[in-house]
Amino acid sequence: MLILGIETSCDETSAAVVKDGRKIISNVVYSQIALHRKFRGVVPELASRAHVEKINYVVSEALHKAKLVLTDVDAIAVTTGPGLVGSLLVGKITAETLSWVYDVPIIGINHVEAHAYAALLYDHSLKPPFLALIVSGGHTELVLVKNYGKYRFIGRTRDDAAGEAFDKAAKMLGLEYPGGPEIDRLAGRGNPGYVSFPRPWLHGSGDFSFSGLKTSLLYYLRKNPVQASSIKDICASFQAAVVEVLAGKAMETAQKLGVSTIIVGGGVAANSGLRREFQKLAVNLKPRVVFAPLELCTDNAAMIACLGYYKLKYGKKTNSDLKVMPSLKIASWR
Ligand code: KG4
Ligand code: ZN
Repeated sequence: MLILGIETSCDETSAAVVKDGRKIISNVVYSQIALHRKFRGVVPELASRAHVEKINYVVSEALHKAKLVLTDVDAIAVTTGPGLVGSLLVGKITAETLSWVYDVPIIGINHVEAHAYAALLYDHSLKPPFLALIVSGGHTELVLVKNYGKYRFIGRTRDDAAGEAFDKAAKMLGLEYPGGPEIDRLAGRGNPGYVSFPRPWLHGSGDFSFSGLKTSLLYYLRKNPVQASSIKDICASFQAAVVEVLAGKAMETAQKLGVSTIIVGGGVAANSGLRREFQKLAVNLKPRVVFAPLELCTDNAAMIACLGYYKLKYGKKTNSDLKVMPSLKIASWR
């Protein structure tokens, strides 16, 4: 089954063709990072305009690279939430128009849920059950994927998402947007023991909380203004606090639930400190921790097409009347 995926929930305009939920035939991503950089964050109005300008190009390029025309695909999977409403509408209207004109069925996809499936495009042996740690700019979720579409929710962030914490910390440190990759780059040369930031464990709960950590950084910087000589050490110390909690809680949960595989997805899954922390904690490679490859960690339409395939395969009906939902939550659909 060939699925055309369309993703426009935030600041990446993307289209992809995926075969049978696993094989990426094409995956075209147009990133708006350069556009938003001077504002040090995503400007919703600019994001939707840029999606309008690029969406036709990325869709035709994804089909061209796959050597296909629209009538060759079996369905279109499009992100309907969560995300910026104007951005989501561009993807939805494009998908609906293509669906009407070419008579191809369409299915709506939850973007955050799709991050949990991205690693399946890379390691074809992966299948549920697995524990998914989804760490993106807007979400931090720990979900037991019992089967395709069958979930048990373990925890989520009570305040800032992991990526948001990185981005806000980077802003305080005067670094460029998006801050996560900048902190990661500087932390690689720094001393993680330089500042002892608190680890927000929230013992007894699967939830996360990063706003206190962010405040600690703020107070630290008030007393110790950032200097060229210390910035890498502060980045390393901040990153250590975030990744120790993310990896520690995921590993503890996997052990408690007896799950042998953890999948890590979302933009923060690209963080090299998080990858190293999981390696450190996994004794004899148990549980097995699988990261989506870097290009599938951040937003892309291949993961949307992948989840679209599984939804159709396991009985979800196509729907010609999609609604965009900026605060859409993950829910079981089987
Ligand atoms: O999944 P994503 O592309 O978009 C959302 O769905 O939000 O994630 C973007 C987030 C941003 O907050 C960005 O700073 C963070 O992922 N990020 C990273 C790294 N690469 C991207 N955070 C830490 N380290 C990285 N290497
Ligand atoms: Zn995302």
